[in-house]
Amino acid sequence: MTSTSETSKRVVVAAPRGYCAGVDRAVVTVEKALDLYGPPVYVRKQIVHNKHVVETLEHRGAVFVEELDEVPEGATVVFSAHGVSPAVHAEAAERHLKTIDATCPLVTKVHHEAKRFAKENTQILLIGHGGHEEVEGTMGEAPESTTLVQSPADVEHVELPEGTNVAWLSQTTLSVDETMETVTRLREKFPLLMDPPSDDICYATQNRQLAVKQIASAGCDLMIVVGSQNSSNSVRLVEVALEAGAKASYRVDNAGEIDPAWLEGVDTVGVTSGASVPDDLVQGVLNFLQERGFPAAVEERLTEETLTFALPPELRKDLRRAV
Ligand code: F3S
Repeated sequence: MTSTSETSKRVVVAAPRGYCAGVDRAVVTVEKALDLYGPPVYVRKQIVHNKHVVETLEHRGAVFVEELDEVPEGATVVFSAHGVSPAVHAEAAERHLKTIDATCPLVTKVHHEAKRFAKENTQILLIGHGGHEEVEGTMGEAPESTTLVQSPADVEHVELPEGTNVAWLSQTTLSVDETMETVTRLREKFPLLMDPPSDDICYATQNRQLAVKQIASAGCDLMIVVGSQNSSNSVRLVEVALEAGAKASYRVDNAGEIDPAWLEGVDTVGVTSGASVPDDLVQGVLNFLQERGFPAAVEERLTEETLTFALPPELRKDLRRAV
């Protein structure tokens, strides 16, 4: 017999969630490279920030390295979706590595913006998290012209000579709200601050945050975000859920990391995933909830995503030759 408390339970799964166009392209790039060239295919850094994806590709013969000096001379190396600085491209050329650049085109767009502003003698205030690979890659395009701003509170430490032309850019996977707060503070300090030509926070980050907000603000006791700890956009989803009204929110790599105690006294559970998460991991969480008396999930879709990116041109060329 079903009790009253069980009938009031709900599971709402957010859409869009999971893979974005840039992650899909990067993962398929490594898969196709493995098929075409055979293992090992070296990958500089994690191709995308997801433990499960990296382990799966490792089993197929991908070798993940931190730096290019770990790659044998002349071997094939894939650059991750987060992008690399020009110095990394130069090192690869020096060591005669065959490179396949899986940088997300939306990250490449930010690199172009950085180069253009630097060329126009404009100082760039890059909003992002220090140490993140994407930030290292973007800063590497114009190291002399870029200052990192990590949070709204960081703005008070930004000092530039009077009369400096100044523009802001951002990492693609930040919290939209926090970034806008940082920009507001920057503009108070530098009234002539220029905006990027278009949003740097990408469509996938924005959509996943809006979808989570919608669920969290409608009354949600617990929001489970599937994603790895080093995935910036997954970590942001936990923060966004809490700010939007979720009573609790946790990030897990998979269902095995859910503490059953989180479910005590909980009626509505929201579930979502970061942009680097395969959907079978979300399905695992939904199954876990069903096994513990929650009903099948209802999907709440904010919008459809139809964007796709072509594979890197250097790989497409080799694929065509192989036919
Ligand atoms: Fe690209 Fe955004 Fe995904 S920058 S890799 S589409 S999270």
